[in-house]
Amino acid sequence: MSRVFSGIQPTGNIHIGNYLGALKQFVDLQDEHDCIYCIVDHHAITVPKSAEELSESIMNVAALYLAVGIDPKKSIVFVQSDVPAHAELGWILTCSSTTGELSRMTQFKQKSKERESVPTGLFTYPALMAADILLYDTGIVPVGDDQKQHIELTRDLALRVNGKYGEDTFIVPEGRYMKSGARVMSLVDPTSKMSKSDENEFSRISLMDTPAKIKKAIMRATTDSDGIIKYDIENKPGISNLLSIYSAFTGKTVEALEQQYDGAGYGTLKKDLVEVVVESLAPIQEKYNEIRHSEELVKILKDGAERADAIAQETMKRVKKNFGLGIRL
Ligand code: TYM
Repeated sequence: MSRVFSGIQPTGNIHIGNYLGALKQFVDLQDEHDCIYCIVDHHAITVPKSAEELSESIMNVAALYLAVGIDPKKSIVFVQSDVPAHAELGWILTCSSTTGELSRMTQFKQKSKERESVPTGLFTYPALMAADILLYDTGIVPVGDDQKQHIELTRDLALRVNGKYGEDTFIVPEGRYMKSGARVMSLVDPTSKMSKSDENEFSRISLMDTPAKIKKAIMRATTDSDGIIKYDIENKPGISNLLSIYSAFTGKTVEALEQQYDGAGYGTLKKDLVEVVVESLAPIQEKYNEIRHSEELVKILKDGAERADAIAQETMKRVKKNFGLGIRL
């Protein structure tokens, strides 16, 4: 049984892209696999933010993990900085990576665009992400499409280290991507992905948005003007995005939706989608409000960190031995 590991950055508001691309998979996988889900706060400080904002976001994401259906009896849920081995293995993997390959990461290129001086952590971030994954002998990493390049780099680093320091050092993991939902696009500009950092709040739907905000965002979502409900990413990115979101929430195929809405107007599709999204998010919001400020949440994270730490320490013993690090007689 392959182990599953994934993480989400505690930055901004978690949106339906994060949910449909990643969180939904987290929940689906926990019955068949041994799963570890992390709130990756070390990653969040690659772009500086206030202590208050960060600690608030960490607890918000933790509560959302549970609210979407991650069950702490089945899965380990913890905060990255509570397990020091992430930083330790992160350094070791930074030393096994090259500036050439890190410079090729499209996310780094985008985030460093037009900056005169770029925080070093933004550059070495993928080595830390590889450490997160490899630390737990992970076989499967459920993520959205935008993380594909980082997963490939993780695989490259694992293979490189294994070749040099011993084949038993790391398990080489695989990414896992949803059929619909792997790349949810912005509702304002459907040619770019939905993102936590977009300045326009109507570009995304956050999991805690009110029905009124959800309605506004969907009803004003950018579409084309030919009035035909058809999935065609190239020529009709707006409608294709709405169909994908609809499909990911309901499990109906895009083809079935095209048939269902054949001859209907965009307004009808949008109105129905508002209902689907509002109804899907309501139970998540209810559970979130129940647990966000509970002692139980703190207990779950502490217990999760202890269990994660025990696994991580075993891996670090092996890694240090293979690299020749530390004291030895
Ligand atoms: P982050 O925090 O940006 O996003 C969390 C997860 O949501 C997915 N995602 C999307 N999926 C579909 N459509 C979108 N518009 C969309 N936007 C985001 C992401 O692919 C991700 O799965 N580097 C990671 C965090 C990380 C991690 C890890 C993930 C750190 N260490 C180890 C897996 C394993 C990130 O920044 O995700």
